[in-house]
This record gives sequence, structure tokens and C-alpha cells, in this order.
Amino acid sequence: MSAPQRLGILLSGRGSNFLAIADSIAEGRLRGADIAIVISNKADAPGIAVAAERGLPARVIEARGRRRAEHDEEIIACLREHRVDLVCLAGYMRLLSPDFVRAFPQRILNIHPSLLPAFPGLDAQRQALEYGVRVSGCTVHFVDEELDHGVIVLQKTVPVLDEDTAESLASRILKQEHLAYPEAIARVLSGEYEIVGRRYLPRRNKAS
Ligand code: GAR
Repeated sequence: MSAPQRLGILLSGRGSNFLAIADSIAEGRLRGADIAIVISNKADAPGIAVAAERGLPARVIEARGRRRAEHDEEIIACLREHRVDLVCLAGYMRLLSPDFVRAFPQRILNIHPSLLPAFPGLDAQRQALEYGVRVSGCTVHFVDEELDHGVIVLQKTVPVLDEDTAESLASRILKQEHLAYPEAIARVLSGEYEIVGRRYLPRRNKAS
């Protein structure tokens, strides 16, 4: 059996998507993957405390007061030190520098709580509610140099209900995020896909 592929998780806050990934691995639902390092750009992110409690390698690399390029260089060095194959942004609320994106070509995933390209950026669930869409959801996509823009691997939808608040919609979407992210990681790690233009296309088994 080949060695598990090594994930580097970047987060800034609560860390529920990180936990969904960690649980999927621990429970055997995401095979062939290991979490090599969890990095937070904020010392007080609850997610980094959870990573440490679970005995996973965890590091805080504070962003405050630092130039993006310099901060990113330190993160890239940390990811390389831990021999990371795939970087997963899990509520990492900081734009990556072009050098970071180039250091891991098509090897950085992000999850966003809307059906991109609708509602990129902050407060996506509130944006969706206020716009009046009847369906929203989440998107897992490769990261490129533009915000919430790269090739889409997977989307999951949820209805927007008449009585929704931004919070109730966010929590319905979050449940789907926790399913979508491990599923998208498994797809990417399988290598059984090609990217044609902006399209992620699973490779079909060749008929024998
Ligand atoms: C999630 O809803 C994620 O989709 C969103 O932040 C939340 C993090 O929650 N990310 C973005 O908006 C990125 N543009 P978590 O810390 O519990 O995983």
C-alpha cells in the first residue's frame, strides 16, 4: 500500500471543517490521507487548540503586523518541512500571495459557504439571504490567485427558507460543508480527474 498523502490544514477560527476532515480520516471515511500539520494565523483560533488536544502537529504563525509575502513564506516553509502534498484552507480568512499559490500548483483547496461564483468574499451566507436566492450551498475549489475563484471540484446545495436568518442558513450550509470537504479531498487525492479549461472532470473507467 502506498504511503498516505499528507494534508496541511490552514485555519483562522472555529475549525469545524478541519474537525470534519480529521474525523473522516480517523473513522476511515477518508482513506489514504493523514494530517501532517495544522497552521493558524491567529493564536486564539479555537481550531488550533482542538488540533493540539488531538495530538496533531499544530503551529501558530501570526499574521498580524506582517507583510503578506513574508508571512506566506514562513507558512510555505512550514508546509514543506512537514512534506505536505495537499493544502486545505478551512476557514483561513486571509488571501494567499501569488508566490504561495505558485508553490503548490493545483494543490490548494478552499471551501466557501456559497455556490460560487455567487457571493465570494466575506459573509457569503448573509449576501445570499439578502440577495434573495432560493438555493444556496457550498463550494470546494482549487485556489488560484483571485479570491474564491479557482476550478470547482464539488458543490452541495441547500434550500433557503422563508424564515431563514443568516445564522440558520449558515448552519444548514455548514452541515453540507462537513460532507463536501472530505469528499472533495478524496476526489483530488485519487488523482482520477483532469482539468479542462475551468472544468474539473472525473476520469471515467475505460471500458474493457
Ligand atoms: C466556513 O463556513 C467556511 O466555508 C468559511 O468560513 C467558515 C469556517 O468555519 N470560509 C470562508 O468564508 C472562506 N471564504 P470553520 O472554522 O468552523 O471551518
